[in-house]
Amino acid sequence: MSMVNLTEEQGMVRKIAREFSENEIKPVASENDKNHKFPKDIVDKLSELGFMGMVVPEEYGGSGFDYLSYIIAIEEISRACASTGAIMSVNNSLVCDPIYTFGNEEQKRAYLADLTTGKKLGCFMLSEPEAGSDPASMNTRAVKKGKNYVLNGAKCWITNGAEADLAVVFASTDATKRNKGVSAFIVEMKSTGVTIGKLEDKLGIKATSTAQVYFEDCKIPATNMLGEEGDGFKIAMHTLDGGRIGIAAQAVGIAQAAIEDSVRYAKERKAFGRAISNFQGLQFMIADMATRIEASRLLTWQAAVMKDSGGKYSKNSAMAKLYASETAMWVTTKAIQIHGGFGYTTDYSVERYFRDAKITEIYEGTSEIQRNVIARETLKEIQ
Ligand code: CAA
Repeated sequence: MSMVNLTEEQGMVRKIAREFSENEIKPVASENDKNHKFPKDIVDKLSELGFMGMVVPEEYGGSGFDYLSYIIAIEEISRACASTGAIMSVNNSLVCDPIYTFGNEEQKRAYLADLTTGKKLGCFMLSEPEAGSDPASMNTRAVKKGKNYVLNGAKCWITNGAEADLAVVFASTDATKRNKGVSAFIVEMKSTGVTIGKLEDKLGIKATSTAQVYFEDCKIPATNMLGEEGDGFKIAMHTLDGGRIGIAAQAVGIAQAAIEDSVRYAKERKAFGRAISNFQGLQFMIADMATRIEASRLLTWQAAVMKDSGGKYSKNSAMAKLYASETAMWVTTKAIQIHGGFGYTTDYSVERYFRDAKITEIYEGTSEIQRNVIARETLKEIQ
């Protein structure tokens, strides 16, 4: 565990999240993965624990924790089940955060308490079939008609899409302005004109839904716009800056689970008359796994502390996500290697960790996008 001193509250969050993960999530994680089952009962209990709106202030129905506490909880939950970590992180980082940060008082009062207490689940709709890394070229349009905006278009890769009640949706209100013509809306999923399309059959995080969503003449009250017309791209970027720290924490949790399983297995498994943990080749793998995980956790915590202190942290959140996700992929590959043939079967959890790790290099900005962000900021900083 890390050397950084946690506050009493952060330590308490870690303890509660760890106990809940061990007792309630770990026992069912593998089955839910195999059955592609959305863990509704677990999500309900996470709401009861106050984990679905962790940094939303109490006056809006949230738990009022700092961002580092939230990040610690995501790591612990993802250590048991990365799918549950993804569901939780979308609701917290990608839905509650933009509504709290950019919503007006009426919007906050109307939506936050439902999202934090489990009455509603949120999803975030930015990506489109032909606009993933380049969201400014989105094709979804929102046209103002009287007191409404009318949405038309297709969104994809929507985590929680099948279960969500509420969405933060990005649409172009002026296509000639590219990123400056993007606007953000709060959309009730039960609105007329919203259709859930194909649910993706994925490599990992199989206990989450990943949906295509279509808007066909979907009327949204103009009062549901977040910020002003044209603010959407900056709202999306700001939201993803925070979200990426959550994905970094998810990756750290997956990697932590993989090293723990690997060490326990290596101490039990015998070859050539000894437990394989005695072999230096294997010890060196464990040493590198432990070091990379610790470095990832520290980058992740640093980005969270920077967000808490109100400064600019785009570069730090990109670094944390880049390094932690590539670490999770690397560590889970080694974990399978340590388990040998057994690690390649579904009798052990390391193959699930390996499959789950891969998404952390892709969603909320690919590793290539994180490198773009880091390079851009670094080139600006060093003159
Ligand atoms: N915060 C605030 N503003 C920002 C910003 C940030 N982090 N980053 C950029 N901006 C602003 C810029 O300052 C610029 O403002 P001006 O026009 O006023 O100068 C404006 O936004 C446009 O910036 P860029 O020219 O840099 O924009 P770009 O089109 O070149 O894109 C990018 C930059 C970093 C590549 C960005 O498009 C990006 O992050 N792409 C990846 C998108 C992504 O992460 N998608 C994931 C979707 S969510 C998901 O995964 C689904 C799920 O359910 C989990």
